[in-house]
Amino acid sequence: MTDTDWQDVGAAADFESRPVTEITLGRTKLALSHRNGVFGVISGVCNHVGGPLGQGKLDGNYVVCPWHNWKFHRVTGLGEPGSEDDAVPSYKVKVKSGRVLVRMTPATPRKHKPHAPHPLARPIRRKSGPVRVVGISATAQDPANPRYSTSEALLEVALAHARKKLKCPTKLIKLAELKFRACEGYYSKSAQACTWPCSITQMDNTDELTEVYEALVHWADVVLLATPIRWGQAGSLYFRMAERLNCVQNQITLKDRVLLNKKVVSFIITGGQDNIQGVAGQLLGFFSELGFYLPQFPFVAHSRGWTAEDMEQNVAAVQQSEELREGTRALVERAVETARTLLKGNCGSGKLARGGRKAQRLEVEQKKGQS
Ligand code: FES
Repeated sequence: MTDTDWQDVGAAADFESRPVTEITLGRTKLALSHRNGVFGVISGVCNHVGGPLGQGKLDGNYVVCPWHNWKFHRVTGLGEPGSEDDAVPSYKVKVKSGRVLVRMTPATPRKHKPHAPHPLARPIRRKSGPVRVVGISATAQDPANPRYSTSEALLEVALAHARKKLKCPTKLIKLAELKFRACEGYYSKSAQACTWPCSITQMDNTDELTEVYEALVHWADVVLLATPIRWGQAGSLYFRMAERLNCVQNQITLKDRVLLNKKVVSFIITGGQDNIQGVAGQLLGFFSELGFYLPQFPFVAHSRGWTAEDMEQNVAAVQQSEELREGTRALVERAVETARTLLKGNCGSGKLARGGRKAQRLEVEQKKGQS
């Protein structure tokens, strides 16, 4: 070892007041910590997806990664108990004449313990067979005491038609029956921190949005999204789900990886009051950004207008309207037909059209500016 192996990184007194400090030696990022009078130095780059450990916090003697909470011993670099084989490099550190010196050469190496990938991370391969249709209902209600929902009723009409007339396998997902966390803004820490599968999904095996991801990414060819109109917008459960789909769109912007290929979406929108076109516009914009295709005339909708406060009449109008049911059956027929055409043809290869990725990247910059 030569003297040049040891680098002076600063005054000990400056580091003692902070549990963890990020320091950079040359091009190497380190997490320098101080606890009970003892310094520790480990790599500043997390084993998971590269989170900045030096910007983390201490939990006892473990540095907690600020991106997804993986922990590494602040002196040895070993993963937390049970994950010791997953380690980041550790560095020797000493204090001399009030200065903190760190030895540049790592004392221990980085070791990756293979983590079992989340089932959603498997390769996306469409199983052969007829076009598959998933209906997603964004109606919020008490699942134990359900009420009649006009959008959900029409969704069931569409799925029944897909099953019986079009011979499609179908699934119905009611967001109100799933327990899932709101997006917690991993993207706002770093675009890289928003992962596929979703960071929350990977960390919390009780989170039930997995069912939606499975259906959208791995199973369905056609997605029918049914939502009520609430204060001129789609229902809140829709937005809760949509925010969690950032991890799908993020793969396009960061990795040029389109998770949703040759998939078609259509919408059912109902409300006592109006703004159908505003709701439809938001849905169309969002799902097209994810990579969905749209059939001709991609939504059916019903509303009795701004002054219609007599909701019982609204429900009755939907229940009695054969025209609306027929329109809903036609909606799913168009969606299934579009999916069949896509599956037969060469379009929807998953490669972004020239310029597409750049456009998406510009959007990343805009999103970062807002976070
Ligand atoms: S926990 Fe560190 S990057 Fe995910």
